Amino acid sequence: MILVAGSANLDFVVRAPHIPAPGETVLGHAFTTFPGGKGANQAVAAARAGGASAQMLLALGEDAFAVPLEASLTGAGVLLHIVRCADLATGTAFICVSDAAENAITVAPGANNALEGRHLPAMGGFSHLLMQLETPLATVAAYARAARAAGSKVVLNAAPARQLDAGLLDLLDILVVNQGELASICGNSASIAEGLQRLKVPVVVVTLGERGCCARVGEHYLVQPAFAVQPVDTTGAGDTFCGVLVAALDQGADMAHALRQASAASALACTRAGAQSSIPDTTAVAALLQQQPRSDIGALEALRSFCALPP
Ligand code: RIB
Repeated sequence: MILVAGSANLDFVVRAPHIPAPGETVLGHAFTTFPGGKGANQAVAAARAGGASAQMLLALGEDAFAVPLEASLTGAGVLLHIVRCADLATGTAFICVSDAAENAITVAPGANNALEGRHLPAMGGFSHLLMQLETPLATVAAYARAARAAGSKVVLNAAPARQLDAGLLDLLDILVVNQGELASICGNSASIAEGLQRLKVPVVVVTLGERGCCARVGEHYLVQPAFAVQPVDTTGAGDTFCGVLVAALDQGADMAHALRQASAASALACTRAGAQSSIPDTTAVAALLQQQPRSDIGALEALRSFCALPP
């Protein structure tokens, strides 16, 4: 059983030919709202992965924006622990998605900032606590301490990029970052391998977009090349990766298998619009894994070399 503690945002999305540069106005195409927020996306991904039972601790305003967020989470089968905030608006995110499927996101955290240490439910029975960084850092640290004391594994997706103190890193069992987030935490390094070595967290996973991902598990390294898809919208792909990874680990998968499941799910999440609306279920992931053969030696070697991993 997994507990996700973190953010829920209503995403206000405009598609446009390209993401505007500072000072530029771009004429976009359609405007849509989607249920989002890194925490809520990860909870939905964990639930859709099947097998794992997913619960989420989140904070919502008492406004209309909260309604579709709660509906999307419960519709996916996530059991909710909701902190209701009368004086704060539900979190929102303003997203431009380019025709090349890339995005730029600005978050107004609102009620997400109201999550405090005292809100964490009793951790007994949860194998993993999964968190992100759209909630206050002091709260993330308090939850990590409580989860560790209860014997749950603490997983942090350090997104969006923020500087983290060593005290928080010491509380983690698994850290998931992209390349930019890795640099924010441990400074620019000559290679991904060097960044992985600098961190003292037992397991570190680095997602590398269309290249795939790599991980250090203790002193061992793993790589998983990305699954080739035609991207439509990459919003929520990283969240899908995190939720499915932790769901697979909760079910007893080893890290190599969990990385493969998470990579397939995140590839599929890029093929549909929106965050939670794009997260595949376990049947779709299984179909992709059956279609696409195991990575060939050349692809594995290329990824190892990109990361400068030891042979
Ligand atoms: O990772 C994607 C998410 O980031 C969006 O759903 C948005 O709400 C922001 O939290």
